[in-house]
Amino acid sequence: MKRTAFTVFVIFWIISGAIAQSPNPLTIPDTLSGAVINLEIAPSTVQFLPGNATATYGINKPYLAPTVILQRGQAVQMNVTNSLSDTSTMHWHGLHVPAMDDGGPHTPIAPGTTWSPDFTVLDESATFWYHPHLHEHTTEQVYKGAAGMIIVHDSLEAALGLPRTYGVDDFPLIIQDKSFDSLTNAFIYEALSDTMMINGTLNPYIEVPAQMVRFRLLNASNQRVYNLGFPPTNIAWQISSDGGLLEQPLAVTRILLAPGERADVVVDFTNQTTNFPLMANNSEMGDGISGGPQGPGGGPGNPLDGNNFPILDFRIIAQTANPVTSLPSQLRTYDLPNIQNVARVRTKVFTVDSSGFPFYINGALFDHDAVNDTVNLGDTEIWELINATDIAHPFHIHDVQFHVIEFNGNNPPAHLRGRKDVVLLQPGDTVKFITRFDDFADEMTPYMYHCHNLFHEDGGMMSAFIVRDTVLGSHGEPTTDFCGAFLFFPNPNDGELQLIDENPEPCRVVSIEVWDIQGRKLMDVPVNLGLNTQQINLQEYDPGIYLLHMRHKGGGHSVRRIAKQ
Ligand code: C2O
Ligand code: CU
Ligand code: CU
Repeated sequence: MKRTAFTVFVIFWIISGAIAQSPNPLTIPDTLSGAVINLEIAPSTVQFLPGNATATYGINKPYLAPTVILQRGQAVQMNVTNSLSDTSTMHWHGLHVPAMDDGGPHTPIAPGTTWSPDFTVLDESATFWYHPHLHEHTTEQVYKGAAGMIIVHDSLEAALGLPRTYGVDDFPLIIQDKSFDSLTNAFIYEALSDTMMINGTLNPYIEVPAQMVRFRLLNASNQRVYNLGFPPTNIAWQISSDGGLLEQPLAVTRILLAPGERADVVVDFTNQTTNFPLMANNSEMGDGISGGPQGPGGGPGNPLDGNNFPILDFRIIAQTANPVTSLPSQLRTYDLPNIQNVARVRTKVFTVDSSGFPFYINGALFDHDAVNDTVNLGDTEIWELINATDIAHPFHIHDVQFHVIEFNGNNPPAHLRGRKDVVLLQPGDTVKFITRFDDFADEMTPYMYHCHNLFHEDGGMMSAFIVRDTVLGSHGEPTTDFCGAFLFFPNPNDGELQLIDENPEPCRVVSIEVWDIQGRKLMDVPVNLGLNTQQINLQEYDPGIYLLHMRHKGGGHSVRRIAKQ
């Protein structure tokens, strides 16, 4: 069955004029590094196909962008000049930077102007990327080519002896699907596309030395997910997830990569005598995944939907001097936030409009003027994501890297245990992650969290959160987030406090547990649902911090921290 589909596809591949062009050497973007990085987004054209050139956007080049190489701990100033006739923004996807410098929809760059954020690089060695983030225009601007890779280096990674010489044994792979208008060769960016491109190269091949070679995989497609396939011969290891190294190299034959996600993989070509391709084994993808056999596709006749197809040919050449020929067995150990310190659990439910579009997060669409969540600076939180739609969504959050701690009630698979900023939820999936919101507070500029299917994001599947510095003295909680319209006061208190619950009926607090910060449960407080207030008496307990765990009527729970004096 699969074999038949694949054969049909290969025949299609051969006869399709647009795709069956001769192999092209993979373009490796130039690099930019140093304390000042100048980037110019501009319209351009590229001769992708015979006939008309295709109108594109590029950053310092006609299509895509230079790879920005940063060193952990360095200061950097980005000068982003917008030479488009449209407004844009520039977001440093995955980097932990102040909200004002993050480049979300609230920091637009008008045509003809330059935006100059500066920040210190606090991130671990990993692969990040940059792209515009203007609401309702992200799909278009990224699709046209305004996107590039960011590589962060640090001394811990440098000491591990991994392949890390850019363009020699360390290669960026910016993976995108594209469609061209059959008459004009213009990009068509509304749907899942029908032609693969890596680093802006159609039908690419790459010469790889017969040794260990690192590929920095980035799915920069608008919607399509790839089930990247390596031979089942123990020659490929995933070494990092979105925001940092895994604890140990993970032997892989498949890497499922959703839009926005990155994975570094090391492939050992040492004893490989025949060339082989990097595959997208998309016939194997599960329910609801864009481009999979049971997911949304690009429409009738799209050769990529639900099929297996090669995306890059590896051509093996001679070893370099001093090749890397082995990997360390241990790369690092994780430093997860302590679960005892969780100040709050937030639940985010994805739903869909009855007409099939748009998609909502907790019932809301993106509102430029709304703040959906307020997080206290320094707090550890657990976010519970629930996909109640029949389509897969890659959830992304700005500001932080997180660790998945639960996937559908189980321990997460190894590739999701590392530092992540995107996680794919298939229909019905529930994911819990833990993170800590350190370093940057700003009551005026929000960070975003959203679906990284850019079509969904532009359709409004995006929300805003601010990080607030509570040392400045504000008490209580905002009333705009899901089931969050309740507070305890006074806080701090002398042991007598009160719950005031302004939540709508399905969100009402139905029970309260009092825990100490050593993780011991002290008491249950029954809640009278007929009232929206409840007295709580902690007078018999010592002064200190206590955690109150609340259950909500419609399911889900919250945690709040109170101080007894
Ligand atoms: Cu890659 Cu909010 O974005
Ligand atoms: Cu981002
Ligand atoms: Cu989505």
